[in-house]
Amino acid sequence: MLRKILRKFSNMPTCLIILFFLILNSGAFAGNSRKFRTEFLQDFPTPGTGPYFDTTVSSNVTGLVGKTVHLVCKVKNLGNRTVSWVRHRDIHLLTVGRYTYTSDQRFEAMHSPHTEEWTLRIRYAQRKDSGIYECQISTTPPVGHFVYLTVVEPVTEIIGGADLFINKGSTINLTCVVRFAPEAPPSMTWSHNRETINFDSPRGGISLVTEKGVLTTSRLLVQKAIPSDSGLYQCLPSNANPASIRVHILNEHPAAMHHGIASTLSLGYNRLLLLSITLLCYIYRRSIRWRHGHYIMLNSCI
Ligand SMILES: *[C@@H]1O[C@H](CO)[C@@H](O)[C@H](O)[C@H]1NC(C)=O
Ligand SMILES: *[C@@H]1O[C@H](CO)[C@@H](O)[C@H](O)[C@H]1NC(C)=O
Ligand SMILES: *[C@@H]1O[C@H](CO)[C@@H](O)[C@H](O)[C@H]1NC(C)=O
Repeated sequence: MLRKILRKFSNMPTCLIILFFLILNSGAFAGNSRKFRTEFLQDFPTPGTGPYFDTTVSSNVTGLVGKTVHLVCKVKNLGNRTVSWVRHRDIHLLTVGRYTYTSDQRFEAMHSPHTEEWTLRIRYAQRKDSGIYECQISTTPPVGHFVYLTVVEPVTEIIGGADLFINKGSTINLTCVVRFAPEAPPSMTWSHNRETINFDSPRGGISLVTEKGVLTTSRLLVQKAIPSDSGLYQCLPSNANPASIRVHILNEHPAAMHHGIASTLSLGYNRLLLLSITLLCYIYRRSIRWRHGHYIMLNSCI
């Protein structure tokens, strides 16, 4: 039996035999590695043995200019270590534990006892606050977790520029877009000449379609434009700046615009016809003015 196994081994390449012995010794090997870890990497945070970051918390944060931003760092198994926040731009130590270490009053360390969250609060966020922030655990060596902050100013725009020229009777179609808002505007109102548009006004024919998402669009449709529909229209998102457009209603029927040349021609023809009749009337009147009965009739002709 043993001779059979040995014969098998003699046919195998040497490396496989080494592998076999390694597997046999794996128990001892694992023991050694555990010993190595406890002796030399005592402070090294490994899940289960030391503090570690809960990476399920978003590390990409978008804030609004002028508003408050919270950068959250969640640490498990912290023990007696401390958590600090460091700004990468200038390697500025902002907070250590529950203490704030910066003269900038907008920054503040926030932590509720017995919780795993160590928050850096930035009030009145500015564009220049955008960048990398590092949450550090005071192990030796310290370990860090990056949080990317982007401070944006939402942009509101009505597509089509500052003015819209539209024919009487056409539909006023205004599209307002809100970009870079950290969240969709909770509400979106429109105004006409500074007065909020009321959808059940006697004017009627006004509708609004708002699509919320990364990009919020709001479309105002005013059917069968009349001259009093002209003026300033504003789109007012509840969490961003307003945008405006001036609508001009041209006193021309859409049909007249489409057949502009034809109508001019027909108008010319009509004028010519009217002129000829007038001329004929004049000649006729002169020639027969003495016929009393006809005179009155021809007078109305001119
Ligand atoms: C975070 O933002 C960075 C840069 O803006 C981007 O490259 C990365 O894909 C983002 N990560 C997530 C999870 O959104
Ligand atoms: C944390 O506690 C351990 C003992 O449990 C001690 O050896 C270590 O020095 C302490 N570290 C700090 C930063 O207090
Ligand atoms: C309004 O204009 C947009 C393009 O700006 C177009 O996609 C949409 O169909 C228009 N709606 C109406 C009812 O004309």
